[in-house]
Amino acid sequence: MSAKEPIRVLTGITTTGTPHLGNYVGSIRAAVRASLQPGVQSFYFLADYHALIKCDEPARIQRSTLEIAASWLAAGLDPERVTFYRQSDIPEIPELTWLLTCVTGKGLLNRAHAYKAMLDKNQAAGADPDSDVSAGLFMYPVLMGADILMFKAHQVPVGRDQIQHIEMARDMAASFNHLYGNLLVAPEALIDDNVALLPGLDGRKMSKSYDNTIALFGPREQLKKQIMGIVTDSRAPGEPKSTEGSALYQIYRAFADDTEAAAFAQAFADGIAWGDAKQQLFERIDAEIGPMRARYEHLMAHPEEVEQLLLRGAEKARALATPFMRELRRAVGLRPLQASEQAGQARAAIKTEALSSFKQYRETDGRFYFKLVDAAGQVLLQSRGFDSPRDAGQAVKRLQTEGAAALAPLAAQLNLTGAASLALVNALSALQIAQST
Ligand code: TRP
Repeated sequence: MSAKEPIRVLTGITTTGTPHLGNYVGSIRAAVRASLQPGVQSFYFLADYHALIKCDEPARIQRSTLEIAASWLAAGLDPERVTFYRQSDIPEIPELTWLLTCVTGKGLLNRAHAYKAMLDKNQAAGADPDSDVSAGLFMYPVLMGADILMFKAHQVPVGRDQIQHIEMARDMAASFNHLYGNLLVAPEALIDDNVALLPGLDGRKMSKSYDNTIALFGPREQLKKQIMGIVTDSRAPGEPKSTEGSALYQIYRAFADDTEAAAFAQAFADGIAWGDAKQQLFERIDAEIGPMRARYEHLMAHPEEVEQLLLRGAEKARALATPFMRELRRAVGLRPLQASEQAGQARAAIKTEALSSFKQYRETDGRFYFKLVDAAGQVLLQSRGFDSPRDAGQAVKRLQTEGAAALAPLAAQLNLTGAASLALVNALSALQIAQST
């Protein structure tokens, strides 16, 4: 990776539910902010293939896809600036899933937490260990690996429960690269320890599975009603109240700046009535969410607009995925038959001709270069300057292992004028074969 290349950040949202305040505080808000930073290229997608693993209600999948897309857009995600797409619009993802399936040990997948939890549950119930385990659930990490590796993501913001999946994606990239050349980028999980877990109405973590959520975008009256339903203790107005362990306070904290939070804590100490505290919380949340609500309602009423934006996002995503998938297919041997013929010719050429060779050197400009010189001393390929000998060496390595297929991805580092010459392509094929035999 050269210094100028932006950091690529990617994350997916499974389309099975309706976004609630916990999703907003825990991921949407931070992601939208991060996407506005310079030097970051962000990819956000609706993981609807993943949704099929958990949900067999077609209408719910469709509805959730719309609600999540509308929520992210209303919260300020700029589809011009980021790549925002729907997983199932990218056919290269299931295609890459298969290539990864073939380099992923079954044993690795056996160790996935979600799968093991199902086995344990079945065991405890005295049922068949694989009862209710679809092959889709088992393969979940591979599909997720394809999501990430397809776009060469460097960082993947996820919750702690997903760290293992990112590690598995790294394993898949390593196995693939070991077999077929250095094509996949190993991602890292990005865990934001600053985002507090939002408590729900009953004080436990806000989660759909506890049925204790506050909807992110509903009618204003609904927000108010849900906030009034937050569980508190029975202290009367005038009695000092503790912020410690108070869901009401913690939710307020997630929306307030330090000064506002301090004032709210003081009001607790001064014995504010719970009803008044709830009213203040409602006003604070509504100040942030209210302005977004109109956009959300507009998008929900115009699904065709959301559809257009997603299709446009898919186009952007596929502009990267389609050529990369072509490269990956070639690397594993799913390639036009003439290519092997060319290799056959090159193989014959090796027997009769001396091999060309790479020369690495340093110029007076302090930068590191290489060139490919044929047996007669003619320069077939000249590189541009690299910052370090290691970078130059990696490019050479890639040309040796991938042959002419590496020319296009390395184009920016090479002084290639127009199409590569046949002499160059043949020389690279010969080196590649020599390397692999
Ligand atoms: N598994 C993730 C979750 O449940 C969703 C997801 C699917 C994802 N593919 C991804 C997240 C790729 C990050 C990257 O939260």
